Amino acid sequence: MIRLDKFLSEAGVGTRSEVKKQIRAGLVTVNGRPVRAPEQKVSPERDTVCVRAEKITYTEFEYYLFHKPAGCVSATEDAGHRTVMDYLTDTARRDLFPVGRLDIDTEGLLLVTNDGALAHALLSPARHVSKTYYAKVSGNVSQADVNLFEKGVDIGEKAPTRPSVLEILREGEESEILLTIYEGKFHQVKRMFQAVGKEVVYLKRISMGPLRLPEDLPAGAYRPLTAEELAALKKHDRSEEIYE
Ligand code: URA
Repeated sequence: MIRLDKFLSEAGVGTRSEVKKQIRAGLVTVNGRPVRAPEQKVSPERDTVCVRAEKITYTEFEYYLFHKPAGCVSATEDAGHRTVMDYLTDTARRDLFPVGRLDIDTEGLLLVTNDGALAHALLSPARHVSKTYYAKVSGNVSQADVNLFEKGVDIGEKAPTRPSVLEILREGEESEILLTIYEGKFHQVKRMFQAVGKEVVYLKRISMGPLRLPEDLPAGAYRPLTAEELAALKKHDRSEEIYE
């Protein structure tokens, strides 16, 4: 059970103070009867809430797939930069947050939700959720690096990195690669290439667990997860993705 004003503001009807005014003005009914108390508790599953006779639907959890652009910080608040929430303009929810972090200059797939339990499960180090990155790397990425990454490299942590899968797309003075890692240490991809004497000059996350960054979703855009994506994510969250 949640307060009527919270129900309405989280359903996108208006800000908390706007919906309080509407409730006090008698515009809101619960199961057909006007309710003028914003603090009245309602059940999102059992009660029918209408504003000016229009039924309001409420979903407890929301899930968005966001294509983070460079320059955006993976946070909900920041004094100097644009945050994820500056881009998610069509949702009234104030409790959304990004699941995990990408560096300010990294682009790509970021899941944004208010489902804390799912986020926790996806970020759990024990779960080894896969993340695939596309990168441009200054320096000649070679089969030797593929072998080193497969074994694990020393990035200054207590243990070497977990085995990861490096695929070379183009080898040259500037190489293009795909790298799949099964953990998420701070600046991990950049530090892995540093460990083999190279520098990441462009980084984009293209997948996380079962989620793929859609090719038709431009940087800065977002969309709700599809029912299939959400089902895959929840199934994934319960499964043990053990790589070793
Ligand atoms: N690895 C990095 O170095 N940066 C990111 O943003 C993500 C993975």
